[in-house]
Amino acid sequence: MADSSMCNAKNKLEGKVAIITGGASGIGETTARLFADHGARMIVIADIQEELGRQVATSIGVGKCHYVHCDVTNECQVKALVDSTVQNYGQLDIMFSNAGILSSSDQTVLDLDFSAFDRLFAINVRGMAACVKHAARVMVEGGVRGSIVCTASVAGSCGGKRRTDYHMSKHAVIGLVRSASVQLGVHGIRVNCVSPHGLATPLTCHAYGMPADEVEKLFEPQTPLEGVVLRAGHVADAVLFLACRDSEFVTGHDLVVDGGFLIR
Ligand SMILES: NC(=O)c1ccc[n+]([C@@H]2O[C@H](COP(=O)([O-])OP(=O)(O)OC[C@H]3O[C@@H](n4cnc5c(N)ncnc54)[C@H](O)[C@@H]3O)[C@@H](O)[C@H]2O)c1
Repeated sequence: MADSSMCNAKNKLEGKVAIITGGASGIGETTARLFADHGARMIVIADIQEELGRQVATSIGVGKCHYVHCDVTNECQVKALVDSTVQNYGQLDIMFSNAGILSSSDQTVLDLDFSAFDRLFAINVRGMAACVKHAARVMVEGGVRGSIVCTASVAGSCGGKRRTDYHMSKHAVIGLVRSASVQLGVHGIRVNCVSPHGLATPLTCHAYGMPADEVEKLFEPQTPLEGVVLRAGHVADAVLFLACRDSEFVTGHDLVVDGGFLIR
């Protein structure tokens, strides 16, 4: 007999209100589309790419998805994003804190540029923490047993030959998720993260100066799992699992989506 506590296979997010930071592009955009397919009542895309964000929201559906300009480095903007979501749509059930950037250069620790380091940390670490803080605040105030999902990376669990600041920032995201999950469990709020291996998105295509198929060829030989290329849809599936009731007893977890990269 089917377990009645399991989510409906199709509408796993029926009636839910979600915010997705970095939702105008890449993993965030794909996740926004998947959330819509699974019946989310409202998806708020928060990003700094105004035109693209509006286009994505319109293509998902007016009345189902809405774009809000929010720079996650600005705590006031994050607070306003979360407060306006609750004001307009009644509550916040899911925060997918996903906005992030890559290092601006291929630096090693020997040539760390601390202005670039500070900028990356302002987005990848401070911005991530602001989103978790304010999402948790309104969930606690509203008595919502919500789900917070952050985007970390395999770079959060290993060292790298380059991009020291990026690796450090993703280690910090995992630390944030672990601490927040311990602290928020008493309110029934779950906090987890997804950690993808490299995949072709505007982020990596821009960083490597290559089209998507070439970026995929670069990453493909690095994972033990053959015959599958990591795409944003794989990551979105993992986010959906963590966002919905299928993962009701999962918190503080780092769900790697890496084709076995970290255990090889
Ligand atoms: N692509 C990869 O290989 C890969 C691998 C592991 C983890 N990640 C992580 O996935 C997340 C999403 O990256 P992606 O690959 O989809 O890249 P992407 O560039 O396609 O999307 C990132 C989005 O974040 C937005 N953003 C950047 N700075 C922002 C800010 N200050 N405030 C609000 N929004 C901001 C961008 O405008 C963009 O729309 C990032 O956290 C990244 O570190 C990516």
